[in-house]
Amino acid sequence: MDRGQLMAQIVGRGWAGAIGAAMAAGVLALWGCGGEKQEKASPDGKADGSNPSDRGGGARPTELGAMTIGFSQLGAEGDWRTAETDSIRGEAQRLGVSLKFADGQSRQEKQISDVKAFILQDVDAIILAPIVETGWEPVLRDAKRANIPVFLVDRGVDVSDESLYVTLIASDFVEEGRLAADWMAYELGGKANIAELQGTVGAAPAIDRKRGFAEEIAKHEGMKIIASQSGDFRRSVGKEVMEGILAAHADELDAVFAHNDDMAMGAIEAIARHGLEPGVDIVVVSIDGVRAAFEAMVAGTLNCTVECNPLLGPKVFDAIRRHATGEELPKWIRVEDQVFDQTTAADVIGSRRY
Ligand code: AHR
Repeated sequence: MDRGQLMAQIVGRGWAGAIGAAMAAGVLALWGCGGEKQEKASPDGKADGSNPSDRGGGARPTELGAMTIGFSQLGAEGDWRTAETDSIRGEAQRLGVSLKFADGQSRQEKQISDVKAFILQDVDAIILAPIVETGWEPVLRDAKRANIPVFLVDRGVDVSDESLYVTLIASDFVEEGRLAADWMAYELGGKANIAELQGTVGAAPAIDRKRGFAEEIAKHEGMKIIASQSGDFRRSVGKEVMEGILAAHADELDAVFAHNDDMAMGAIEAIARHGLEPGVDIVVVSIDGVRAAFEAMVAGTLNCTVECNPLLGPKVFDAIRRHATGEELPKWIRVEDQVFDQTTAADVIGSRRY
């Protein structure tokens, strides 16, 4: 099989369909916070914010230009996150949405208090990019009681009740891990000692990418993960962790799988400082597809990146508009991604938008 066939196979693996929607049961609730609101059940018995006519404080606008929307971003740990923030802010501006932005500064407690503040302000919708998967249930229940629909972007949450959010707009992180493993297995002929740089502990992309990668690697007897540590999705931490891994394993290491490009950039620096040639002595594969990754592929220091598209602004506002006009949305709006390596990087770098 030549590389063209491999890439076609990888890209054509098929992004499975959306998860079926599960709508909430009707509730009658009283919510008091800076002025008590009486919520009424809608004609169809739902009062979960999924029906625009549910809202007790009066109907919410159906036009995006008339809405005030809160956006709780988890932080600003790297290039990907900046591109996502810019996409959502830029699209809000283009559509005339009044967007309230809150930077969670990479702390879940801060994000939770930001979401609480949006609820107190009675925004028309909340966009949430959650730093970790767990711990969201109480604040999402508060939003539901206030009939404020929540739209998750980029990362999912682990909740017992899916009606706590309208939809998740995100890539398939498990599949991204599988694609990275497939590419690496092909490139190294199914034989490699691998170091893994994981993302933020407890974050959906770190959990899922690790799982997808491990699943595929397990199909090759000669491929082994000999070191695996969190680099928190950050370049500086990726570099530091990689230095430690090299100190212990430089002689036996063939490849690095970094859960994002930022950590891969850090690892590349560490490999070069260690006197080895990144991309040659040690194959480096990562995820995201940010501009720096394309530059590194053109320079030969990064071998492959699996795209994870952060340009979610148009998709999330489209979902908010459709929901406001009564459309039922799937629980997962899947973002399609592609795989890029050194053979295609120079041709496509000019057309990259982040
Ligand atoms: O949730 C998406 C991940 O978060 C991106 O891969 C990464 O760069 C970011 O930190």
